[in-house]
Amino acid sequence: MKKLILLLFMCLFSSSILAQNDNREDKKAFIDALLSKMTIEQKVGQLRLISVGGELTLDKVLDQIEAGEIGGIFNTVVEPDLSRMQDRALKSPNKIPLLLGFDIVHGHRTVFPINLGIASTWDRQAMALVAQVSADEATSDGLNITWAPMVDITRDPRWGRVSEGFGEDPYLTSEAGRIFVEQMQKPSLAEKNSLVTTVKHFALYGAVEGGREYNSTDMSERKMFQEYLVPYKAAIDAGSQAIMVSLVTVNGVPATANHWLLTDVLRHQWHFNGVVISDHGAIRELINHGVASDAKDAVRIAIKAGIDVSMNDEYFLQFIPQLVKEGALSEDDINNACRHVLSLKYDMGLFRHPHRNLDPNLDIETMFADNRLHRKEAREVARRSIVLLKNDNKLLPLSKDQKIAVIGPLADSKRDILGSWSGAGRANLAVTPLEGINHAINNPKNVSYALGANLSDDPALFKFLNLYEVTAKFDDRPVEKMISEAVELAKNADVVVAFVGEAQGMAHESSSRTDISLPESQKRLLRALKATGKPLVIALMNGRPLTLVDEFQQADAMLETWFLGTEGGNAIADVLFGDYNPSGKLPMSFPRNVGQIPVYYSHLNTGRPHGTENMGKYTTSYLDSPNEPLFPFGYGLSYTDFNITFSLSATEMQQNGQIIVTAIVENTGNREGTQTVQLYLQDVTASVSRPVKELKGFESITLKAHEKGEVHFIIKPEMLKFWNDKMQYVAEPGKFNVFIGSDSTTQNKQTFTLLNN
Ligand code: NOJ
Repeated sequence: MKKLILLLFMCLFSSSILAQNDNREDKKAFIDALLSKMTIEQKVGQLRLISVGGELTLDKVLDQIEAGEIGGIFNTVVEPDLSRMQDRALKSPNKIPLLLGFDIVHGHRTVFPINLGIASTWDRQAMALVAQVSADEATSDGLNITWAPMVDITRDPRWGRVSEGFGEDPYLTSEAGRIFVEQMQKPSLAEKNSLVTTVKHFALYGAVEGGREYNSTDMSERKMFQEYLVPYKAAIDAGSQAIMVSLVTVNGVPATANHWLLTDVLRHQWHFNGVVISDHGAIRELINHGVASDAKDAVRIAIKAGIDVSMNDEYFLQFIPQLVKEGALSEDDINNACRHVLSLKYDMGLFRHPHRNLDPNLDIETMFADNRLHRKEAREVARRSIVLLKNDNKLLPLSKDQKIAVIGPLADSKRDILGSWSGAGRANLAVTPLEGINHAINNPKNVSYALGANLSDDPALFKFLNLYEVTAKFDDRPVEKMISEAVELAKNADVVVAFVGEAQGMAHESSSRTDISLPESQKRLLRALKATGKPLVIALMNGRPLTLVDEFQQADAMLETWFLGTEGGNAIADVLFGDYNPSGKLPMSFPRNVGQIPVYYSHLNTGRPHGTENMGKYTTSYLDSPNEPLFPFGYGLSYTDFNITFSLSATEMQQNGQIIVTAIVENTGNREGTQTVQLYLQDVTASVSRPVKELKGFESITLKAHEKGEVHFIIKPEMLKFWNDKMQYVAEPGKFNVFIGSDSTTQNKQTFTLLNN
C-alpha cells in the first residue's frame, strides 16, 4: 500500500513537473491577457521561425529575439547557443520563450535507418523505439519541436524524398506516423522529454508530376481522401500539434495559398487546433507560382489561406503590420495565428519552464560523445529493416570463415550509410559495412576490400552531391585499374559482397532522377565481378526503389539495406552471417523500368484486367514490359520458409459486427525466423471502382524451426469504409475478399458478405 501511494505521488509529481495549469479557462485567460498587451509587431514575432546563417549571424538573431521579433528558431543544434537564445527571449518585452526546432527525421545523434527502412520493419515496436530514442536525444539537447514525421505517400520512386517517407501505402504510413506522434509527444506535451511533432508536408508532396521535385500535383478529391490525405489525418488524430504545408500546387492552388486545404479541410473538417507552418521559402514562392503579385500580396494570401507561422521568415514582419493597418488583414487574423503558437507554448509548459531541457553546461564535445548514442537500439532496428530480395541455393548466410571480397563504392562510406536528413549525426561515429564485416568474422585476413568504381562517372553529379558537404570522394585512377583490382580480389575469394547503390545525397530533397537504375560505373563493376564466376551477393544501399532487372539476374543473393544509420555496418554483418535472420518487407513496389511508374499494388482492376479470358490482346498491358513490378509491395524473404493458412469466424457480417481472422503460420524450415502476416481486403462490388487489394492489418510472429503459431486480425465495418459515389464515407453492403499472405501478391483468399442491416 505504501508503495502504491508513493508511486501515485511520484506519477503526480513527475507529470506536473512542467505542466502549466491545464484548466481551459485559465489557459484562455492567460493567453488573452498576454495578447492584450502585445503590439502587432510582437504578435508577428511569434509567427516567425528563423534560422541562423548567411547574413543572419547569431548575434543579429539574438538581438531580434530580445526585441520580441522571433517566435522560434530552427536548424541550431548546439546547446549552448540554444540556451543563449532562450535567455534572450526571456529578456524580450513579453518574455515569451522560443520554440527550438530541428528536422529529426530518422534519429538525432543516433541515426536510425531512413524512414523507408524503418517502414520495412513493419514492426510497430521498432517504430516506437526510433521515435522514443529520437525524442529523448533531441530534448536532452534542448530542442522542443521537430519537423517530422514526414508521411507523404508516394508511388513515384523518381522523387528524391521517397527516402524520407514510409512508402506507397496509406495504412502502413499512417501507422508509422501515428506511432511517431504518440511516442515523440508522449501522453502530455508538458512531459520533460516530449517533443512536439510537425506532420508534413500537407499535402500531396509525394504526388508531384513526373516525380520531379517541387512540381505540381493534380488529383481527384476521392483519391485524396481515400489515399493521400489519410496519413496526415492519422497523425493529427494522434495529436500532432503542428503541421507543415507542402511546397507544391494542389489542384491548381499552391498548398501555402490553399484555403480549402488549410482551413476548410484541416481546421473545419478535421478540427485541427495546432500550428500551421509554411515550408522554407514557401511564402515568397507564391509569386513564382503566379498567385501573388509581390511579397506583400503573398503574405496576405498565405495568412488568409490559414498559414500561422512562416519558416525562415523574410516578409511577415515587413508586411503584416502594414497589411493590418490597410485593412487587407484583420488584427483577428493575426491574433488567431498567434493564439495557436501561444497555446502550444502554454501546453508545453514553456512559460513556467522555458529552459525545460536546456543545460548551458552541455558542451559540444559532450553533445557529440559516442557514449550518448543508443547503439544497441540502432542495431536492432537496422537489422530489422534489411530486406532479403533473393537467395539462390541458400548462399546466405555466409560462414565467418569464408574468404570474402568486399567491393564497391558504398562498402566503406561513413557519410552515406547515415542517409540524408541526419544533420545531428556524426559520420565518424557510423559503422560501415566493411567495418561491420571485419568485426564479425573470425580471421580478419579473410576479408579483402576494393572500391571497384566511383559511385558515378558523371562529374556533374559529383559536383551536385558535394555542393553543401563532402559526401563522396572521387577516385581518379583509370576505371580499368579500379575494376581489375576488384576482380583480382574477387578471384581470390570464396564469395563477393558488392555494396552498390546511391550516394545519400541522391535520395534527398531536390534529388529527383529520371533514370533510377544503378549508375553505369557500378553496372560495369558488377558485370566484371559476375564474370569471375564467384558467388555474388549484391547489397544495395539506396533511398528509393531502383530498377534492378539485370542486377537481379546477376546476383546469387540480394539484400536491400537502404541507408541504415549509425549501426548499419554491424546490422548488415548480422544478416550476412545469420546472427539475425532477415525479416524486412518492402514498403514500396520496385518497378522493372521507369515506364511502369506509377506501379503500386492497390491499383484499380480496370474493365479489361490483364490475363482475362476472351479478350485476346485487348487487355490492360504493355507491349514491352510485364505489368507487375520486379519486387512487389510487402515482399521480403527469410533464411527459413513459412506456410500460411487462414480461416474466418463467419462468412457474414452485421453492419455493427466483426469477423475474426485466424492465420496459422508454420515455420517449415530449419531455423528460427520472423514472418509478417499481411491482411488485405477487397470490396468486390461497390458504387465506385475499388482497389484490387488494400492493406488493412499486419502482425509479425517469430517461430522456431518447424513451430506453428497463430496471428489474429479483427475485421470491423470501419475498415470497409470508403468515399462512395456521393463522397460519403461509408461501408456498402456486399461481398468482400479477404487475402492473407506474406506479400501483396498473395492469392490466399476467403470471402464474406457485409449485410444490409
Ligand atoms: C525544407 C523541407 O522541405 C522541410 O521538410 C524541412 O523541414 C525544412 N526545409 C527545414 O529544414
